[in-house]
Formats: sequence, structure tokens, C-alpha cells
Amino acid sequence: MRLDRHGGHETPRRTRAGSARRVTGAALAAFLGAAVLAPAAPAAADSPLRDHAAQQGFEIGAALASDHLQNDSQYADLAGSEFNAATPENSMKWESTEPSRGQFDFGNADTFMDFAQQNDQKVRGHTLVWHSQLPSWVENGNFSQSELRSVMENHIDEVAGRYAGDIAYWDVANEIFMGDGSWRNSVFYDTLGPDFVADALRMTAEADPNAELWLNDYSIDGINAKSDAYYNLIQDLQSQGVPIDGIGLQAHLINGQVPGDLQQNIQRFADLGIEVAITELDVRIDMPADQSDLEQQAQDYRTVMDACGAVDGCVAVTVWGVSDQYSWVPDTFDGQGAPLLFDDNYQRKPAYDAVHEALGGSTGGEDPGDEDPGDEDPPPSSGPCDVSYSVANEWGSGFTGQITVTNDGGSALNGWDLEFDFPGGQQITNGWSADWSQSGSTVTASNTDWNGSLPAGESVSIGFNADHSGSSAEPDSFTLNGESCSVS
Ligand code: G3I
Repeated sequence: MRLDRHGGHETPRRTRAGSARRVTGAALAAFLGAAVLAPAAPAAADSPLRDHAAQQGFEIGAALASDHLQNDSQYADLAGSEFNAATPENSMKWESTEPSRGQFDFGNADTFMDFAQQNDQKVRGHTLVWHSQLPSWVENGNFSQSELRSVMENHIDEVAGRYAGDIAYWDVANEIFMGDGSWRNSVFYDTLGPDFVADALRMTAEADPNAELWLNDYSIDGINAKSDAYYNLIQDLQSQGVPIDGIGLQAHLINGQVPGDLQQNIQRFADLGIEVAITELDVRIDMPADQSDLEQQAQDYRTVMDACGAVDGCVAVTVWGVSDQYSWVPDTFDGQGAPLLFDDNYQRKPAYDAVHEALGGSTGGEDPGDEDPGDEDPPPSSGPCDVSYSVANEWGSGFTGQITVTNDGGSALNGWDLEFDFPGGQQITNGWSADWSQSGSTVTASNTDWNGSLPAGESVSIGFNADHSGSSAEPDSFTLNGESCSVS
């Protein structure tokens, strides 16, 4: 039996958005994208990350901790000024919101929500059902199936119900699989079996018909047994008519180790008709970090931004914290740290510049006060197209190539073919974001249905995996629709 919502423990929070309307992920994205894009004035080159993101209908988020929001004004200033999306780092977890059965405490969660609303940030609720940060009254409660189901339903009802209408996405179930793709043992799985996920999704849909319903996990950034398990589960849920709107790839990464097939993985989930986001991005470094570590880290952030940016349906990148000083990383990984965009003293790191640039802003170092549109340098003269080619990842006999093609001609392209020759006998094995073919050493990448229209000045990123026997030398010339491109 369904428990009464809000069971009288806490006054329900008043919501901003009233209508109980459920929309598909794609429709919501289109609606929000249009709402963000239409009124946005062009962002100045050195504007905060959020201004550039908003211009593209994109979300750049951060995990925010309520105590720092209250006690550290530099933290709060950056949290509000740089990010247009936010995730509560700990304050909506079960141990925070329902530490004892039926006793709800929304103090820190409300602090977070108030901050996010004052700063016009889209909220990712995190998280309703998770084996960790779970109070012992749940974990060791020895509940029967029906009791645990009703404990779970009441928790979801209270927490998701309280913020109904104000949460864009809920991480409904978090970290449910092991690295080998098997189910993680937890009180939920052990008592209720795998159906606890479908149950939790349906319960959340009831409690907040407006929120998108997501699953979320770490080490599912590339294609592997664990991300395969999600891929299969999502298809399964879809075939049963269970509401599922998105998958969060946490992306807690190690410096220099962005999976080469990240974009391909994002694309395959998007191809299931759900949304994808990078939900907890950080890139940890062996300490102490030197300049080359920070530059590698910047490159890794850029790779992640580009991979998400290249896939329709990848809607957001959220970094897991604001400044290195409060990151969870040093507490968990001995000798590692400095994983975020701002250092311990809130100074921008090269990683910040990389994210800024990926969103369309300038690199660092400019004094925003010096900006005068009349003084701008004339745009560099260029050919009809520009290509940047990089090897994102390399292993024994293969590599992942990443290509960004920019339409530098004066008019939009409706359909495009990129052609180049591999100099070292490389052979494409698979590719994404384009239709790939190879004849001898000549490779052709043609637009897909969704990225054929390329307005003047805009870029498209595409990628591939290839085998090689000894040489992964880079192609030195490219043509787009038969015209020669500059190479940057
Ligand atoms: O608030 C108490 C404080 O009162 C106490 O003095 C102190 C002593 O250890 O602990 C404080 O609680 C800590 C809490 O963070 C708030 O800082 C917990 O010990 C600590 O375990 C907890 O860590 C959080 C971790 O999740 C728990 O698993 C991290 O802040 C948080 O960043 C991290 O976030 C998770 C995501 O939710 C899911 N994905 C992985 C990610 C990183 O682990």
C-alpha cells in the first residue's frame, strides 16, 4: 500500500514550478534549450563558464556542499557566478535527509536548493537509492521485502516530493553494478532483487512527475562490462515501459587516462533515446602536481568537454566540487589530489581555461576590463575549413583519433564529406559522429543525419578507432567537400 505523501513529518516545500507535467527527456531538452538560447546575448570572450554554456543551451555544473556555501564566501561566489547547474554533494543523500526512520532533516538540502534557485541553476538531485551513505537503520534493519519496499517508497516520496517541480534530474539509483557488470550486493538488491531499480524509478515518477529520472555510476565512462550492464538494463527498462530518461557517467578520472571511447560510449547511450551527462567530473593527479601535470589535466578536461559537446543528447558536464581544497579525492586516494578547475586558493587552473575554451570562451590571461569590441583584432584570414586532428588515446596496435572540423567558409554547409590519407597504413576499425569508410589509405568521413548542417563558423567533432602496424603518423592534409582545409 502506498504511504501518504509527506506523512506529516515536515511541511512540504513550496515549489516554483507548479504544473505536474511529464515530458520526455528530448522534449525537455528542446524546451529548456530554446528557453536558454533565445534571450541570451552573446557572451564576452572572458565571461564566466555559465554564460558561454547558456549560449549553447548547455549546462556546466558543480557539486556544492551546503556548509561551504554558508561559511566560505569565495566558494559561494564562484559556485554562483561560474555554474548554471548544481548537484548537492552530500545534502540530499539518505543519511542526511532521513537519518532515523521517518525523521526527516532537510536543513542542508534546503540551503543548497535556496542557493541554486537564487542563482538560477538547474538542479540534479543526488541521490535517492544508494548503498553508501545509507543510515544503519536501513542497512541493518532486517526488513522483509514489503517493509523495505515501503521504507524506500516513503523515503522517495518525502525527498523527491518535497522538491517536486524544482529538480530537473534525479539520480534515482546510484552505483548499482560492479566492475564486471554484475549486480552490486546492497540491502536493496539483496532484499528486493533487481526490480528495486524499476520500482525506484516508478516511485520517483509518482513523487515528482516533472523530474527526469536517471541512473548514475563511476567507471562507466568508456565501453566496458559495467557500462554494458547499464546499456542492457536501460533497454530492458524501456521494453518494460519503466520511465528512464538518462544515464550519468560520473567520470572520476585519473590524469592522462580519459577512456579513448568516451564519445562512442556517450553516443551509444544517446542512441537509445535517453540523455547523457558527465555528472561528477574530476581528474586526479599524483601529488605534488607540476606544470606538465596541470597541462595534461587541462587536455583531459578538454577531451571530456569535446566528447560530450559532440553528441546530441549529452546535456551537461558537472565537476565534482569547486576548489581543490575541499575535494573528496585526497581523503580517498593517498597521494593524489588537485582534481578540479580552481586551486586551493580559488585561482583558475589550466583546466579552467580548457573548459572555458571548449565552451567557446577565450583562453585565460585576458583582463576583462581591457575588452573593447572596437579594439578587437580582425579575424584571421582562413580557408573554407579548418581541421584539428589529435590522437586521444593509444595502445599497442591501435589508437583513437579525434577530429574537429570547422566551417570557415562564409556560408552554412548542408552535408559534408571530409577526406584524408593515412600515411602509415592505419586502418579504421570503427568511428562515431560520422559515416566512416576507407579505401586503401584514403579515409572519408561523411556527416550523419544529425550533424550535416554546419553553420559558418561552427565546428563538428568526430572520432574513430584505428589499427596500425607500427606507425600512427598523422595525416597532413584534409579536404572538406573537395576543398583544401587549413590544419591547426
Ligand atoms: O560531515 C561529517 C563531519 O561532521 C565529520 O566530522 C567528518 C569526519 O570524517 O565527516 C563528515 O562527513 C563526510 C562527508 O563527506 C561530508 O564531508 C564523510 O566522512 C565523507 O565520507 C563524505 O564523503 C563523501 C562521499 O561521497 C561519501 O561516499 C564526499 O564528500 C562526496 O564527494 C562523495 O561523493 C560521491 C558521490 O556521492 C557518488 N559518486 C562518488 C563520489 C565520490 O566518492
